[in-house]
Amino acid sequence: SQLQMFVDEIPDMPRIRGYDVVNGVTVSKTLSITMFQKYWKFHKDLPPTTVFAYGETELTATVPGPTIEALHGVSTDVTWENRLPSKHILPWDPTIPTATPLSKTGVPTVVHLHGGIDEPQSDGNSHSWFTAGFQEVGPRWTKKTYHYHNLQQPGNLYYHDHAMGLTRVNILAGLFGAYIIRHEKVEAPLGLPSGDEFDRPLAVFDRSFLTDGSIYMNHTGNNPTIHPQWQPEYFGDVIVVNGKAWPYMTVRRRKYRFRIINASNSRFFKFFFSDGLNFVHVGSDSVYNEESVLVKEILVGPSEIADVVIDFSQSISNYVVLQNGAPYPYPGGNPVNQNNGQVMKFIINSQREIDTSRVPKQLLVYPTPSPSQASKTRYIAMYEYTSTINQSTHLYLNAKPYDAPVTETPEVGSTEIWNVINLTGDNHPLHIHLGLFKVLDQTNITNINEFTGCMNNFNDAVTCQVEKYAIGGKLSVEPYEKGWKNVYKMHPGYVTKIIVKFAYIHTNAPYPFDATAEPGYVYHCHMLDHEDNVMIRPLKLVK
Ligand code: C2O
Ligand code: CU
Repeated sequence: SQLQMFVDEIPDMPRIRGYDVVNGVTVSKTLSITMFQKYWKFHKDLPPTTVFAYGETELTATVPGPTIEALHGVSTDVTWENRLPSKHILPWDPTIPTATPLSKTGVPTVVHLHGGIDEPQSDGNSHSWFTAGFQEVGPRWTKKTYHYHNLQQPGNLYYHDHAMGLTRVNILAGLFGAYIIRHEKVEAPLGLPSGDEFDRPLAVFDRSFLTDGSIYMNHTGNNPTIHPQWQPEYFGDVIVVNGKAWPYMTVRRRKYRFRIINASNSRFFKFFFSDGLNFVHVGSDSVYNEESVLVKEILVGPSEIADVVIDFSQSISNYVVLQNGAPYPYPGGNPVNQNNGQVMKFIINSQREIDTSRVPKQLLVYPTPSPSQASKTRYIAMYEYTSTINQSTHLYLNAKPYDAPVTETPEVGSTEIWNVINLTGDNHPLHIHLGLFKVLDQTNITNINEFTGCMNNFNDAVTCQVEKYAIGGKLSVEPYEKGWKNVYKMHPGYVTKIIVKFAYIHTNAPYPFDATAEPGYVYHCHMLDHEDNVMIRPLKLVK
């Protein structure tokens, strides 16, 4: 039976400070955050759901996990501990390249701080997994306590599981949470809505549930003879925000800032308001926009983050519904239905308020390198492989499995041009660890069958003369997506050209750690079902 919408109030996840204040001075802090199996109530009429949850204690663990509040210039250390049992709550498919045959010591996990500019040893490499009590560790495990520098630009990050071959099921089970880096000196003058009440993370994700409350994931793969359980894209029909299905939030008649994280495995969201209320887009992923952009809708791919201000005093009504219009898979899949087309409801107080917050046109500007400063041009091709029944079996970047020797080896401090060639039928959100990038342009590939035929033979865009084919129409980059990004949507049948920088964008300074250390970094498609099978490649920085 259908769950009633807008009957559960949205929670604000617990906030944990990643710093201490000693005699008025902020100092580094070491946190201990543990993964527990517990019950979570997604809806008042749904029985409790077994989840994996992050928390400082089992009692306080939540889905999504607590929001970690970090300060620019004050490092945070986190000891991530695993207390998960040996049996996974979801079908994890032992045939896809995975961490370990299901171990008696527990479900393997490892934590990545998405958007973090941190040393490789703390980046949560897929092969650095560990089981309960660190009884077993992966081949590239480094240490128990991760170090987050927090020296980068202020913005929105999020932490999530990254274990080899298990990322999609570990995240689906609940292992993700927000992480904010604040920089008072540069952010306060902007005057945006602030404080815990008016500045809030919203983690939006889709799930399906059985009537007993358990998370439903298809137990039979689309190609069961090849992968008995893997499905190319997970889609759920219930839209969950901050751990509640289609919640409501009572708001005051004034401006709020929402840091919207798309924490879905594969679902894109095209957010808009039922009554045409605007978003003022102020930041994307982990970086502020240079300028605020007024928009009616925002397209947010898996793991993209939209930092927006919404002015409820502009509403003529006493409520407004946040809706979704993105087909799934995106862009050519099923149209939204009455379930997944609804996200949450805002109930707006009638009383007008004095609101001293504002949204300036100009936000934070960081220098952008020109393409002529790039020291290297790379081509990254996206391939999907199908079985004889024309069903997806796996996906690769550059026709290579994850464990093939590293081919992307940027120099520390350098700028590169990456041409991402999407030869598949779907849009893939590409995520690069460590480096930030800007989208330069998106060009349609003409005569794509001929070009794909060549790429299938040679897997080399230069040999196949990509410039001869990448001459079709251009897709414009939306004004709100012209800034620095760490994930971007690679349109099918297009070459997307991005400029990637492997140094701090706000200072141009080199990293204060050895970025060339083992186990290195990765870049991948952030549709988790793709990432696990196996649209991910190593990224190794060199001197
Ligand atoms: Cu959001 Cu490699 O991850
Ligand atoms: Cu993908």
